[in-house]
Amino acid sequence: MEHRALSRLAAPAVAALLALTTGCTGDTVQGRPGASGLRDPYFPRAGNGGYQVDHYALDLDYDPADGQLHGTAVITARAEQGLSSFNLDFSGMNVEGVTVQGEGARYNRTGNELTVRPAEDLKKGEVFRTEIDYSGKPKPLEDPDGSKEGWITTEDGAVAVGEPVGSMTWFPGNHHPSDKASYDITFTVPRGYEAVSNGELRSRTEDADGRTVFAWHSPEPMASYLATAAIGPYKVTTGRTPSGTGLYSAVAPGEGTADTGPLARLPEMVEWGSGRFGPYPFATAGAIVVPAGTLGYALETQGRPVFPGAPAEEELVVHELAHQWFGDSVSPKSWKDMWLNEGFATYAEWLWAEDHGGPTAQEYFEAFEAGDTDVDKDADVAWDAFPPASPPGAGDISADPVYYGGAMVLHRIRQEVGDEKFFALVRGWAADHRHGNASTADFTAYAGASTGHDLKKVWDVWLYGKARPK
Ligand code: TRP
Ligand code: ZN
Repeated sequence: MEHRALSRLAAPAVAALLALTTGCTGDTVQGRPGASGLRDPYFPRAGNGGYQVDHYALDLDYDPADGQLHGTAVITARAEQGLSSFNLDFSGMNVEGVTVQGEGARYNRTGNELTVRPAEDLKKGEVFRTEIDYSGKPKPLEDPDGSKEGWITTEDGAVAVGEPVGSMTWFPGNHHPSDKASYDITFTVPRGYEAVSNGELRSRTEDADGRTVFAWHSPEPMASYLATAAIGPYKVTTGRTPSGTGLYSAVAPGEGTADTGPLARLPEMVEWGSGRFGPYPFATAGAIVVPAGTLGYALETQGRPVFPGAPAEEELVVHELAHQWFGDSVSPKSWKDMWLNEGFATYAEWLWAEDHGGPTAQEYFEAFEAGDTDVDKDADVAWDAFPPASPPGAGDISADPVYYGGAMVLHRIRQEVGDEKFFALVRGWAADHRHGNASTADFTAYAGASTGHDLKKVWDVWLYGKARPK
C-alpha cells in the first residue's frame, strides 16, 4: 500500500508529499502517539486514547501453589487515529514480548503504562491485533478509598475484581469503562481446581499435563472493571431461571450453597428484574461466593457478581443483580457517573422490598430523610454529605452519598412524574443504552424527554445541590 512504501521516507517529507498528492493533511495518514489516559475526572490515567478494543482473548495459566500467572493477551482493536504508538494499562507482571499484526513491536513501561510501538504505523480505522506475552505474580492494588482490588490471592486460589482500575493487575488493556469489548478468557489450572469467570463456560477440558482448561466466553460488551476470575476448590451449581437464562454459580467451601439463604432467590430476582427494568441483558447469570475475608465488598462482575462470603441479606443479592442492568449493561462514561450505577442498584433494593411485602420506596425515602434506622439500618448515614453527581475526590466514588443520595434522586423523580412515567423512564433508559455507556447529562436529558416533566429543580437540589432542602 502506498503509505507503507512512503513510511521509509523521513516523516516531514511523507507529510508534504501526501498533502501534495492526496490533498490530505499529514496526520490523517501518518501516525502519532495515542494518549496515555482518557482524562477521567477521577482516574485521569485510566484508559488510553487513539483506539477502541473490540475483543480480548486472554489465555491464563495459573498455579495457586506459587501464585505464578503466565498470560497471553490478544487484543483486537480499531485505530481511531493514525497511530505511531499506543498505550495499554498494565500494573506489575513482566512483559515478555509484544507483537502487532504478527510483527515484533517495541515496547517500554513506565508506571502502569505499557507503550507499544508497532513496526509500522497503524492507519485510522485499521483493525489491528496486539499480542502480549507476560508472566509473574499478580498483585492487588489499594484504591484511593483504602479498599483492595485487582488480583487477590486466597488460602487456596485467587480472586480478581477490578473496580475501578484493578483489572490492569492481571491483563493489559484499555482499562476505562468507556471502552467495552467482548471477551474470551481461558484458564489453565491444576487438577482439582475450578476456574470461574464471566459469561458462558464453552468447554472444560484436560490438557496434556492433566491440568484443567476452562474456556469462558462473554459475547456482550463488557467494561474491563467487570471482568472477574475465581480460582479455587469451589462448589459449582448450574441451572436455569424460570424463563430459561442459564445459571452457573460457584461457592467457596464453608460459605453455604447457591440454593440456600438469600442466594437461593437469585433466579427469581432475575425474573423480577426483567419485569421491572426490561429483559435481563446477558446470556448467563449466577454468583461467585469467595472465601469470607478475601474482600470487604461485593462487586457486580458481569453476569456473575462476586460476594465476599455467603451473602446474609437479600438486599445485597438484589443490589448486585440490579447492577447487571445499571452499571454492567448501561455503563458509566466516566467514574463521575458512578451514582447512575449505585443509585439505581440501591433503589432496586427499595423496589424489591416494596414488591415483596417490605417497606415501600416512599417509606425508605422518608426513613433516610429522618435518619430512621427502624426502617433501614443504614438510614442514619451521611447520605447528603456531598451531591451524588460530584464526589469530592477519587476516594469518594463508592461513598454513601453516591449510593443513598443517588437512590433519593430517583425517588424524587418518581414523586414528580408518578409511577407510570417513572417505570417507563427506567425501562426506556435501560433499553436505550443497553450494552453501551451513558453519562449524568445523558440521564437528565433522557429523563426530561421521556417524562415530559421539567426536572431542573430535582437536578439542581438533589443531584448537584450542596444540601437537601430543610
Ligand atoms: N460497586 C460495588 C457494589 O456496590 C461495591 C464496591 C466496589 C466498593 N469497590 C468498592 C465499595 C470499593 C467500597 C469501596 O456492589
Ligand atoms: Zn453497587
